[in-house]
Amino acid sequence: MRRYRIPKIRMPRFTHHIFVCCNQREPGHSRGCCDQEGSESLRNLFKAEVARRGLKSCVRANKSGCLDQCELGPTVVIYPQEIWYGGVQAKDVSRIIEETVIGGRILEDLRIDDSLLNTKGGRLLRDGQLPKAGGERRTS
Ligand code: FES
Repeated sequence: MRRYRIPKIRMPRFTHHIFVCCNQREPGHSRGCCDQEGSESLRNLFKAEVARRGLKSCVRANKSGCLDQCELGPTVVIYPQEIWYGGVQAKDVSRIIEETVIGGRILEDLRIDDSLLNTKGGRLLRDGQLPKAGGERRTS
């Protein structure tokens, strides 16, 4: 069998991949989940905002499965900058695109501190509350 040569195509690189957790779990699950309604609405808002601002050639908004920061969700991570945001709500989408993606600024009120990442069991504070990451504390 003859092989053909695949030409190298130089595509512009994406500057930001925004991964939006769209994981669902049954109600009452101890870890909660980022997309209770299963609507992927947060991801769709990111996608629309990227398109509205003409950033589709360099920014992608992808849905993801569980990012393992469930208690701090809804969770969003932006690569390759490795910026983790928690408690992300619809009202935050435009601000994240404007400030973080375009402006290069980290939103401290949404940022999940490195000390809280991947610390199963270490997230609960003594009072049984979940640590704050961005928005309201999640209690379930
Ligand atoms: S369900 Fe979203 S991070 Fe786990």
